[in-house]
Amino acid sequence: MSSPIRTDLEPLIFERSHPGGGVPKAYFPPSDVPNRPVDSLIPPSLLAEKPPLLPDVGELDAVRHFTRLSQMNFSVDTNFYPLGSCTMKYNPKTCDQLSILPGFRWTHPYQPDETVQGILEVLHTTEQALCQVSGMDAISLHPAAGAHGELTALLVIKAYHASRGEKRTKVLIPDSAHGTNPASCTIAGEDTVQLVSNRDGQVDLDDLKSKLGPDVACLMITNPNTLGVFEKNIIKVAEMLHAAGALLYMDGANLNALLGKTRPGDFGVDVLHFNLHKTFAVPHGGGGPGAGPIGVRAHLEPFLPVPRVVKEGRKYRLQREAERPQTIGQLRSFYGSTGALIRAYVYIRSLGPQGLKDIAENAVLNANYLLSRLKGAYDLGYQGRALHEFVLSADRQKAKGARALDIAKRLLELGYYAPTIYFPLIVHEAIMIEPTETESKQTLDEFADAMLKIARDIEEDASRVTAAPRNMPVTRLDEVGAARNPVLRWTPPAAGQAGS
Ligand SMILES: Cc1ncc(COP(=O)(O)O)c(C=O)c1O
Repeated sequence: MSSPIRTDLEPLIFERSHPGGGVPKAYFPPSDVPNRPVDSLIPPSLLAEKPPLLPDVGELDAVRHFTRLSQMNFSVDTNFYPLGSCTMKYNPKTCDQLSILPGFRWTHPYQPDETVQGILEVLHTTEQALCQVSGMDAISLHPAAGAHGELTALLVIKAYHASRGEKRTKVLIPDSAHGTNPASCTIAGEDTVQLVSNRDGQVDLDDLKSKLGPDVACLMITNPNTLGVFEKNIIKVAEMLHAAGALLYMDGANLNALLGKTRPGDFGVDVLHFNLHKTFAVPHGGGGPGAGPIGVRAHLEPFLPVPRVVKEGRKYRLQREAERPQTIGQLRSFYGSTGALIRAYVYIRSLGPQGLKDIAENAVLNANYLLSRLKGAYDLGYQGRALHEFVLSADRQKAKGARALDIAKRLLELGYYAPTIYFPLIVHEAIMIEPTETESKQTLDEFADAMLKIARDIEEDASRVTAAPRNMPVTRLDEVGAARNPVLRWTPPAAGQAGS
């Protein structure tokens, strides 16, 4: 059987390695700067015994190698990327350009506050804009990603209950939630309790009622949820939690569907995290370095992490731990990923209130247009109106011999990044599609045509789909073998043999 990885396309950089990098000797003149060996500054017991095993290649070979690898990759800049939930959305180049203006790029986080007034103003204004968008009272830009925002928020909630002398250890999480929600709870030292969704894919109020008690710290709800459905009972949910002394936490990753339409602070949310990469055009950090700010109502503000940007008269400065006795402390370096935050600032300021509203409308329009084109050929994951994303089920196709995984692989072959599959867990053979607001009707139609063709092919002969992808650098992988027998390290070949 042929290898699933087409190594003929590009060898590993270690396989290109030659002593001296294959670069002509004396290409650059020798350095005339006195070489003060770093070794003399490090205690001998800490010095490595051998140099690291790095590939020895010239600059040109290294640049070509990585450029060729990047050309094998799918990205928002090369292909339509309808990935639901952990969306990759178009990041306007103007946001990138402005975020690297010299005044931003050439500053250092340890500079005194008086010398970075411009950056502090941008951060402070971004906080105010996020307050307006979300209806929250205070924002911390500190967390490095959505999941990090969840953890930060849970620690804030924990500190709030502790300050009232209450020990609440349970966090309620709907079964449709993103996997980072229970993971963040575990890291925060809380116990998770699962809530079942009703037939409309929403929180079941009876189930919520039966699980609420004096030991519940909060409910973590995603709204719109991961089925792309707005939780229509959200005000009732907030009231039930507050009556039980618990808080309502909102995973705001899907806020792009609500911008300018409704605000979590107005429907009872106490704390939420933003995924700036899904909502405000920041490249997806995937755990960092991205940005997952949190917003809180006033009663939780004292617990926010440090530092905090404050404005005094016309000056800005960073407040530290000594001035904030109830803070949960510092969870990462400095005050967030400034480069990512500036991109969000530029995006928000360029679009303004009407532009942000248009985003929500276009995101919902695009998702519903695609849904209406595909719903005859695929089963729906749930009944109800979609907002910014929707979930199909490939159950019908599975009965004919092709699974959601096969459909995703075939899409790669046709030039599309695959949608999220097998999530949310409550939909069989889930295919979760989020086109985002910036795609043209032409792109949506081309993608819909591809999905419809795949459905027709499966009806006629599923093997047309199950062998995909045939034209990718990596074809069908032995997934069980990869999990049970992972080869994670390249070993140099013995003389006369190929490396592995
Ligand atoms: C609903 C939801 N919650 C949380 C996250 C986690 O965000 P991040 O990948 O930035 O950690 C995501 C991913 O985008 C998400 O879709």
